[in-house]
Amino acid sequence: MAGPADTRCPGTARLALQLLLLPLLLPPPARPAAGAQRYEPTWESLDARPLPAWFDQAKFGIFIHWGVYSVPGFGSEWFWWYWQEKQIPEYVKFMKHNYPPDFKYEDFGPQFTAQFFNASQWADLLQASGAKYMVLTTKHHEGFTMWGSKYSWNWNAVDEGPKRDIVKELEVAIRNRTDLHFGLYYSLFEWFNPLFLEDKFSSFHKRQFPVSKMLPELYELVNNYWPEVLWADGDGGAPDSYWNSTGFLAWLYNESPVRDTVVTNDRWGAGSICKHGGYYTCSDRYNPGHILPHKWENCMTIDKVSWGYRRNAGICDYFTIEELVKQLVETVSCGGNLLMNIGPTQDGTISPIFEERLRQMGAWLSVNGEAIYGTHTWRSANDTVTPDVWYTTKPKENLVYAIFLKWPTLGQLLLGQPKAIWNSTMVKLLGYGQPLKWTSLEPNGIVVKLPQLTISQFPCKWGWTLALTNVI
Ligand SMILES: *[C@@H]1O[C@H](CO)[C@@H](O)[C@H](O)[C@H]1NC(C)=O
Ligand SMILES: *[C@@H]1O[C@H](CO)[C@@H](O)[C@H](O)[C@H]1NC(C)=O
Ligand SMILES: *[C@@H]1O[C@H](CO)[C@@H](O)[C@H](O)[C@H]1NC(C)=O
Ligand SMILES: *[C@@H]1O[C@H](CO)[C@@H](O)[C@H](O)[C@H]1NC(C)=O
Ligand SMILES: *[C@@H]1O[C@H](CO)[C@@H](O)[C@H](O)[C@H]1NC(C)=O
Repeated sequence: MAGPADTRCPGTARLALQLLLLPLLLPPPARPAAGAQRYEPTWESLDARPLPAWFDQAKFGIFIHWGVYSVPGFGSEWFWWYWQEKQIPEYVKFMKHNYPPDFKYEDFGPQFTAQFFNASQWADLLQASGAKYMVLTTKHHEGFTMWGSKYSWNWNAVDEGPKRDIVKELEVAIRNRTDLHFGLYYSLFEWFNPLFLEDKFSSFHKRQFPVSKMLPELYELVNNYWPEVLWADGDGGAPDSYWNSTGFLAWLYNESPVRDTVVTNDRWGAGSICKHGGYYTCSDRYNPGHILPHKWENCMTIDKVSWGYRRNAGICDYFTIEELVKQLVETVSCGGNLLMNIGPTQDGTISPIFEERLRQMGAWLSVNGEAIYGTHTWRSANDTVTPDVWYTTKPKENLVYAIFLKWPTLGQLLLGQPKAIWNSTMVKLLGYGQPLKWTSLEPNGIVVKLPQLTISQFPCKWGWTLALTNVI
């Protein structure tokens, strides 16, 4: 059933990408009750904090990588590093051919216009995608802050470029127009910040950069914008003690305006990833393929090559909606959340290819969201007999969902895992009214007879869901 046009794209090698990013928020929580848990600035104490429940229920978020790198819009959001530090020939040539010889990366700042940026439009589009949270890059490794940070000199969106507080505009639009949780990404280190480089030269015995820049900015972000996701990234090879991550997180969980609802990730210093913090991200595009006991997130990009916008991307560089639905289903069945990235242009538009993928995801979720939002992992993530069948469950409602990504040619779907109860099991196709006929296999498994539908009668494309009531 998948669009045949997509099969014309050659396979694209998966590139290892590094990325950065951040959080979101909600109305201010009530003060904690007397005797509420207090956290110590140690990993032992912080790691024991239960993750606020909304995050596991949300399942699907949108990541937004937007910054000065969107101006060259070439290669990757690591443009500055690849051009000047690595001197990768493609980047050097690009600059030589298109810019005067004395052009510096900082000169891209004034060209970051955001002239068509309309936060309400973005918010409406994110809502239409079916996402329940979003995470905006407030500062990537280039150091440019998307709000008027008091600690950034003029390297920020209020003094330079847009001359607007991008973070505030999005916060207001998201909170006023959508039910998404508002999240912010923040890169701890900055490639070329002289204070960071001096600290690094001292093997991180000096701590000028976290004390005068990174920590003040994190407090400023949390106090001004109340993010409900704080997505840290970019430890620069420094340990969490250099960043004082545990001191900051203890404040975030005990005192901050979002202490009851905020979630954080695991990128808080060298060695903390996949080990400490809130939920695990482990690596970019992490998708283990089996159920993990600790909450995790698969952050990935619709553009296979870059997190930031690339003007030189072709259609085959973007994942198809079939591939994205598969990512979502696999991720949720294994206990993860999917954080799917878009890269807006420097003028503040979201290109039609990203917009289409977002709206397609929303269309798919409008039929199948029951099998995604608020679900739990089942005893088995995928089927043991039929490939491309993934399970979720709502135990309180005695429901198991089997999401299948290929419509079987013979019109019968064999599920090897569920065991039917002869007089009480019921099977429905989401988006289709009547219960379906099934037969039981011994010792395990059922065969479901799917309805014969014409193309226009299908409840959706790209993947379908059977809701099984009362199976074991
Ligand atoms: C921004 O987008 C919203 C929602 O589409 C629209 O109502 C509003 O007029 C737009 N504002 C501007 C300045 O274009
Ligand atoms: C929401 O919109 C109202 C009316 O436009 C505005 O006064 C208010 O400041 C906005 N608040 C937030 C948090 O978005
Ligand atoms: C770390 O942060 C905590 C909480 O803000 C603060 O009390 C402590 O002095 C900080 N420690 C260092 C070494 O910066
Ligand atoms: C279930 O998923 C795992 C991990 O992706 C895979 O190795 C296995 O082949 C799948 N089972 C079937 C029957 O497709
Ligand atoms: C199902 O069958 C069992 C055993 O025959 C019986 O005890 C039970 O009442 C039946 N349940 C329903 C809903 O018919």
